[in-house]
Amino acid sequence: MANIVIVGSQWGDEGKGKIVDILSEYADIVARFQGGHNAGHTVCFDNKKYILHAIPTGILHPKKTCIIGNGVVVDPAALIQEIEELKGLGVEINSSNLRISKRAHLIMPYHRAFDLGREDKKGESKIGTTGRGIGPSYEDKVARMGLCAGDLLFEETLRTGLQNNLQEKNFILENFFHTSNLALDELLDRYKSYGDRLKSHLSDTSIIINQAIAAGKTIICEGAQGTMLDVDHGTYPFVTSSNCVSAQACIGLGFGPKCIDGVMGVVKAYTTRVGNGPFPTELKDKIGDKLREAGKEYGATTGRPRRCGWLDVAVLRHAIRVNGLQTIALTKLDVLDHLKSLKICTGYKWRSEILREFPAEIQVLNELTPVYEEIDGWEDVTHGIEYYEDLPQKTKDYVNRLRDLLDIDISMISTGYEREKTIFVPDSLLSQWLNVTIDKKLISSL
Ligand code: IMP
Repeated sequence: MANIVIVGSQWGDEGKGKIVDILSEYADIVARFQGGHNAGHTVCFDNKKYILHAIPTGILHPKKTCIIGNGVVVDPAALIQEIEELKGLGVEINSSNLRISKRAHLIMPYHRAFDLGREDKKGESKIGTTGRGIGPSYEDKVARMGLCAGDLLFEETLRTGLQNNLQEKNFILENFFHTSNLALDELLDRYKSYGDRLKSHLSDTSIIINQAIAAGKTIICEGAQGTMLDVDHGTYPFVTSSNCVSAQACIGLGFGPKCIDGVMGVVKAYTTRVGNGPFPTELKDKIGDKLREAGKEYGATTGRPRRCGWLDVAVLRHAIRVNGLQTIALTKLDVLDHLKSLKICTGYKWRSEILREFPAEIQVLNELTPVYEEIDGWEDVTHGIEYYEDLPQKTKDYVNRLRDLLDIDISMISTGYEREKTIFVPDSLLSQWLNVTIDKKLISSL
């Protein structure tokens, strides 16, 4: 029925996991198209917390096909561990509901060592990566020296690739990072065994997805990280090493741009960022601490405290433009429940200029100050509210102001971690795309 791309509109951790989880119920396929196990998508139901890293959130729903596309980088050891952990929580994972692209590039131990070694050497100016080897794996892909998931099944390809790479990697490990080098045979044996374990999940996933599109199935393309972490459109160099924007769904899954029916952005009602880099609306005061505690803003992958700040409309305008967002899901609105007044950043002051758009240059970002619009807080409980009409008037005023500033449709509003704590805005674009009336009873009974 529809092929919908869902992306993060800020610096990641917007709550994409919860949104994709709910919408998975209406999908046939849920597919990841970029990033790797640097992501941490948290989903809560039945008093259990599931944290997904590389596996699409749809895996929590029986009978949905989940795809890890060619645009993802896969650490086989971490993926096998994630599969086992989810199985331990009672999630069914088999070779028909989890398909992995043979073209997805692998993360090797030397990628992790490079990631950590580089960060260490950078000291104060480090990016603050998740240390999972994501960047170095993408580097090797572009340098045409990477190994793909499909190579796991061919010992000679694996051996030759590793042999060639280790010559260079071991030299750098020993002489530049001053760490121990890696032994070919040990690495080869390890990756062959990963191949044996993952073999039944590997295929050309572009074929699966294009057949599904032709058959009119519903597909959710699940983005990871967020627009401001995109390697082209984010706050470079403080970004991840993949494209996180919607167009990457085509490349990272292998279908044409005309196959996308809708693009939804997930927007947190305030802003957070993990790791270093520009963050114009960051609050280094008690309000920032309050947001962190109320929003439980600690990384799902690394446990690091997230930097917190006010909502930034210039960031969101940028996200709307570079992704072609048509509608948004507004998350964590309830975290603002107890604030007396709220600020929305509408642009920036830089030297004598007022900037409406998010600047490209890191120098400008370091010098600017945000321009704020102040709005009354609602100081009331929205936590758990399920219907738009039940929101306090002042909350509706905030949502309406946001809609006006962004000039965009709002499809969903999340008021808590659990699935049922979600408002589906009537007559939104989302219900048109899915051609369904979202059934609250169904969501509650999942
Ligand atoms: P990397 O993706 O591990 O290379 O990290 C690069 C930057 O992206 C760092 O600032 C990370 O904190 C950030 N990052 C990577 N994955 C996520 C995520 O899933 N959520 C939020 N930030 C992330």
